[in-house]
Amino acid sequence: MIYSIAIDGPAGSGKSTIAKKLAKDLEFTYVDTGAMYRAIAIWALENTPDINDEENISSHIDEVDIDLDYKDGEQQVILDGENVTGRLRLESTGKAASVISKQKRVREKLVDIQQKIAEEIPVIMDGRDIGTKVLPNAFLKIFMTASPEVRAKRRYDELTMKGEDCDYEEILRGVKERDHADETRAVSPLRPAEDAVILDTSEMTEKEVAEKIRELFEERKGGKI
Ligand code: DC
Repeated sequence: MIYSIAIDGPAGSGKSTIAKKLAKDLEFTYVDTGAMYRAIAIWALENTPDINDEENISSHIDEVDIDLDYKDGEQQVILDGENVTGRLRLESTGKAASVISKQKRVREKLVDIQQKIAEEIPVIMDGRDIGTKVLPNAFLKIFMTASPEVRAKRRYDELTMKGEDCDYEEILRGVKERDHADETRAVSPLRPAEDAVILDTSEMTEKEVAEKIRELFEERKGGKI
């Protein structure tokens, strides 16, 4: 049996930090699916005149080559042979990714790649549709949430730590807009799978969240739940 853990939840819920830590502890491969949507966004920004033109993007998407690689345990995304990892977290890339991730053909392509990876190796995969669509038979499904205010504060602290000038209220508005877009899109909207364990991390430390998920995994493995 190849184990898989699906972690879904809104932006800023702490999924990636936790998923990375757990992957290291359990010796699973961490797959950040948001990074794959972000890479497609880079491709679309550079190679198509309008990222909203779904018909045009759909007709070219099969020509795009996306590969994952790992360097010192960190996921790298290779787009048409070029490592674009350094550009994935740019604000412009994130905005374009939220547009591109609504498109059916884009989702089909990436879901297919993600499912193939999980067939081969144990993964902890994070995203929005992992438990509902990508890995409906995942061994453990977690839906991580936190209030928009807590998520905006985490983002604010992260940016401030990097020395970036930012405004909390503006970040909070952005968090709410992103949530709305993710939850209301027609294709694979963000929602917990019926069999997901819902974890509200607003009042939890990263360590507590990681321990809780580890505990759930071990319990399930031992046949206790
Ligand atoms: O988690 P993130 O911010 O890196 O995700 C980037 C965008 O991609 C975001 O708008 C949500 C979307 N996404 C998605 O639709 N499905 C996934 N499995 C992962 C991300």
